[in-house]
Amino acid sequence: MKGIIFNLLEKAVTAEHGADVWDTLLERAGADGSYTSLGSYSDAELVRLVEAASALTGRSASEILRWFGTAAMPMLHGRYPEFFAAHTDCGSFLRSLNDVIHAEVRKLYPGAEVPSFSFEAPEENRLIVVYRSRKQLCALAEGMIEGSARQFGQDVRIEHPRCTHRGDDACHLDCRFGPSSA
Ligand code: HEM
Repeated sequence: MKGIIFNLLEKAVTAEHGADVWDTLLERAGADGSYTSLGSYSDAELVRLVEAASALTGRSASEILRWFGTAAMPMLHGRYPEFFAAHTDCGSFLRSLNDVIHAEVRKLYPGAEVPSFSFEAPEENRLIVVYRSRKQLCALAEGMIEGSARQFGQDVRIEHPRCTHRGDDACHLDCRFGPSSA
């Protein structure tokens, strides 16, 4: 996993819980915390950090990943506004993940291993995002979709009827978008 993901996690944890909590997570995960955005670090290290956060907060690892994914999107928006500017709604933005966003990420971050997505749009304001990755970070994807919807002033309800953690061959994130109630 590229260091940028660890950098974003550090920023999210520090902003919401303070630097001490981040230091505690590093210590409990046996991680030294010096991540450069272009460096590559083991997926297991991310999992250990998430597990440490889970033990500290009593929230499940999936909840932590969803929280992180949601928190990461405003930061990614600040860093890569051009990926968002080309779209007026979240569904259209998500459909650019494979061919534009993560394609560009692979150029910017050599060695990046991005997930693959396919899409089904059975009706208006609904998008089934099919997530495939050996990393099995579908909860992170869910959080990132929620965070993306917010960036477009939309609310999203996500169901997860198929999941590789439950033996299915891919994760289906069934997203229903509506106007923001905020
Ligand atoms: C500006 C938008 C985005 C940028 C710049 C971006 C960038 C990245 C980067 C750098 C990685 C790490 C790859 C690696 O370490 O090998 C990654 C992974 C990932 N991205 Fe994105 N991403 C964006 C949007 C999204 C969105 C909207 C989703 C939601 C579906 C998403 C889902 C994921 C997931 C789940 C991973 C973890 C790796 C995996 O599951 O295989 N990303 N992304």
